[in-house]
Amino acid sequence: MTSSTPTLFKPLPGADGASIDIFFNDRALTVQGGRSVAAALLAAGVSRFRATPVSGAPRAPYCMMGACFECLVEIDGVPSRQSCMVEVKAGMRIRSQEGARDLPPSIGTDTADASLENAHGR
Ligand code: FES
Repeated sequence: MTSSTPTLFKPLPGADGASIDIFFNDRALTVQGGRSVAAALLAAGVSRFRATPVSGAPRAPYCMMGACFECLVEIDGVPSRQSCMVEVKAGMRIRSQEGARDLPPSIGTDTADASLENAHGR
């Protein structure tokens, strides 16, 4: 995205981080650090973050504050992350989330990793 591309999403003065490289659905993107994954993707022109499980309708961030769950994506292999609540980091591999996801493994089983986040990405 060039600086002349019109966008609704502009960072607050002084909130710009250095440019970093990430991947969205295997496509390399250069985005500004110091912001959420959702804000970085929106500013890069991404408008489809997931599809609903029932109809497959495209969805994108709505509230940008962790309330609506419209911004769910897979980040570095972990599904159902609220992209508006995760700070973007260099090298992140982000994928759109298509339909429903499985529940995370239960804690306390041999295959479970106690360090995994809960289903809400927290
Ligand atoms: S945009 Fe609403 S929870 Fe992320």
